[in-house]
Amino acid sequence: MAARFFTHGEDGKGSLGPIVIWIATHPDTTTAENAHDVSPDIISLLEKVGVEGAVIEWYEGTVETLAGPPLLRVTLDTDPTYYVRRFLTAVLGMPITTQEREDDDAQGSVGFFFHENKSKRGEASARVPGVSNRHVLHKTNTDDYQFKGAGAPRQLVRVCGSRRFQRGVNEIKARIGRLGSDAELFVTEIAELQLQVASEDPDEVEEAEAGVTAKQAKLAEIKQHIGLLEAFDKEVNAQWSDIERRNMGHVDWAPKISVDVEGNRYTLDVGTFELDEAKFKPHFKGNVIDLGAKYTPGELTDKFYPLHNTNTRTLFNPPPNRQLRVKGIVTRELLANPDCFDSNDEPCLIVLKDGGASDLTVGNHAGLEAYLADDFGQESVELAIYNYNKQSGDFSAKGDSGSLIVDGKGNMLGLLHSGMPRGGSNHVTFATPAWWIVQKIKDQYPHADFYRTSW
Ligand SMILES: *[C@@H]1O[C@H](CO)[C@@H](O)[C@H](O)[C@H]1NC(C)=O
Repeated sequence: MAARFFTHGEDGKGSLGPIVIWIATHPDTTTAENAHDVSPDIISLLEKVGVEGAVIEWYEGTVETLAGPPLLRVTLDTDPTYYVRRFLTAVLGMPITTQEREDDDAQGSVGFFFHENKSKRGEASARVPGVSNRHVLHKTNTDDYQFKGAGAPRQLVRVCGSRRFQRGVNEIKARIGRLGSDAELFVTEIAELQLQVASEDPDEVEEAEAGVTAKQAKLAEIKQHIGLLEAFDKEVNAQWSDIERRNMGHVDWAPKISVDVEGNRYTLDVGTFELDEAKFKPHFKGNVIDLGAKYTPGELTDKFYPLHNTNTRTLFNPPPNRQLRVKGIVTRELLANPDCFDSNDEPCLIVLKDGGASDLTVGNHAGLEAYLADDFGQESVELAIYNYNKQSGDFSAKGDSGSLIVDGKGNMLGLLHSGMPRGGSNHVTFATPAWWIVQKIKDQYPHADFYRTSW
């Protein structure tokens, strides 16, 4: 790297300093003596090509590429960073934003991925796009957007807008704080038990000794977890806080939002973005929903099998390590006539989604299609997803747009695109049927493969 400094003098004139050559070495790979020894060689090299009076300055530094590191992998759920890392992992529901919409603070989620396999013209393609809503990926709705190919301007897509990133960092810190309080409590309890060891009562002594051993083991584990979380917090701040380093793709196709007036009156609010191989390939697993830590596997199972349940087919099986793989698509027939019934014998399908804003939520698709009229009187037909129950909270929130709704077996049901309060705590979420979205994607990418398990 070469630089020249212009020094402003008091007389309003100035002088141009010598040419300075900065040479950065990787930390701890060289010494001041080594650098001093090499400098004359460089200067004589420069003099040979006519550069006189250059000054060489050495410094230690690691070159940080703007590209940033690959997205994180999903760890085992025994890893203390398992849940707090989810805002930076390459799985469905990943929070996204675009460079174009950064100022609007518009955020959405990744619905699913697919391999293009072959282009429309039949040429082999290594491209892997992600799917979300057009309204997440593109600001205006005036025309169909299509990326023009190599060299054309790119509409960059990022993981986490500023707000979602900050929330992720705050969650890590909150987790460290919580574990810190737990550790303090253990220290107090251990101290009390150590007094109890002096008791006259042999039962109390035995209890105290066993208690001290057990709690010391827990305390050691908590301390280890705090250490790992602190290191993770540092890593996240160093590697990801610069928004440019969170770029991970660019918009490929974003047709104008429309209602399929001639056909089913479904809403087309879909867009794709091509994933950066370097960001995704290392930890890419295809279409997997990370069920996370909000519910235990047992709690989730209970939601799919409420009391008075009369259904016979398997609705949910906790997947190993909480990774639910997308395996198929809920058919049009099943959507119209759900084969499950709630305690009032009303048809229902229990569904779930993972979104960048409200994380994992469970809801209820009652098989009813909702008729929605927009501000211009345009009527559309939507899948309506109701909150699971009065206590469950809303199925979706702003920032979940674009996320994929699936049944408990990992079959794609719908692509979430909006929600509406319905008085009080009642909220309904609207989605476009997945079977239809997939058809539209196949019109654009005829060889799309939704079921690959690696890059
Ligand atoms: C896509 O390519 C993979 C690997 O070559 C192949 O296994 C798969 O069947 C293809 N899928 C489609 C839909 O063409």
